[in-house]
Amino acid sequence: MTPRANPNFPLNLDISPSISTDRSSDLEGAGFLDQESSIRDFGIAGKIWESAYVLDEYLRSSDGMEYDPPCPVLKPHTGSRLVVELGSGTGVNALALGKLLDASAGDVLVATDLDDVCPLLLKNLQGCTLPNGPIAVRPLCWGDSAQGESILSEFGDDDRGMMRAAHIVCSDLIYFPELLTPLLRSLLHLTSAIQRTTPDIPSVTISYKIRSLPKEMPFWAAFGVWFDYQPVWRRAQRSASRLGSTVTSEFSGWSRLGAARDDGDIFVFVAQRRPESLLWDIPAADVALMSGAGHGADDTFERLLLMSIGDDDGTL
Ligand SMILES: C[S@@+](CC[C@H](N)C(=O)[O-])C[C@H]1O[C@@H](n2cnc3c(N)ncnc32)[C@H](O)[C@@H]1O
Repeated sequence: MTPRANPNFPLNLDISPSISTDRSSDLEGAGFLDQESSIRDFGIAGKIWESAYVLDEYLRSSDGMEYDPPCPVLKPHTGSRLVVELGSGTGVNALALGKLLDASAGDVLVATDLDDVCPLLLKNLQGCTLPNGPIAVRPLCWGDSAQGESILSEFGDDDRGMMRAAHIVCSDLIYFPELLTPLLRSLLHLTSAIQRTTPDIPSVTISYKIRSLPKEMPFWAAFGVWFDYQPVWRRAQRSASRLGSTVTSEFSGWSRLGAARDDGDIFVFVAQRRPESLLWDIPAADVALMSGAGHGADDTFERLLLMSIGDDDGTL
């Protein structure tokens, strides 16, 4: 059998470090990570990708900005939470996520990637990793249910009636066609856990940059069969005035988070499993999974694209 090529070093790889244009971000300049050397050692995984900057904004949800829907990890909750990030790469989103969690309350973030990328994560997340911080680093090759199960059994505390994973977070993982089916399998696996006492359904937050629609559309058509999903919108608070005890805020119009940026068209989606899909069998055959598993194809993404046509800046 020929070994599978390393997806982080495709032929003719020609990438360079990225920079954030958002001055309010901790990632501004991204100088705290040496992307130059991590790209050399880890290829694609060593770069901070464009979608990561947009996801970072959403995770930080600074004062003065309103997001619809609000970031699921920031929602009020009871009990401890397991958050799993897929394809963490440099770990920049894991750093922001870690700040939203409370290790003393039992919250855990598991930053995952291919086995050979875990050393990069461990290096960049130094000081935030378990036992003192809320972040663990584990290998999770998409579609490998044994690795997924191992994370769930290590951190998803079923005995306390907790959902095995409360939130799944991904940035810039939809690009090579051969990776789309295994990625969908991992998303299904991590959200298929049996619910005990909590009514919460796990959320999936995906930051996605459009690169090649014909190659990427099949993912969204299959994803939408299992997941209900919507794009994130944002608006800025322009001013706030107080009259007696009443505070009135004035906001700008809504625009889609990530729309029409200099570095591409980016979507942030928030998704949850369609309740009926929790009863379906996940087909073992990739072709069956990607063609809707007998439940049709979903056109949510096509409809979203049609709605954006003629709306260059993504405003409403
Ligand atoms: C484009 S990078 C995105 C990295 C980071 N999330 C970001 O937005 O900057 C894709 C990431 O997916 C990881 N990856 C690629 N194939 C994978 C697979 N089969 N299983 C798990 N991770 C994979 C890569 O190692 C890399 O870190």
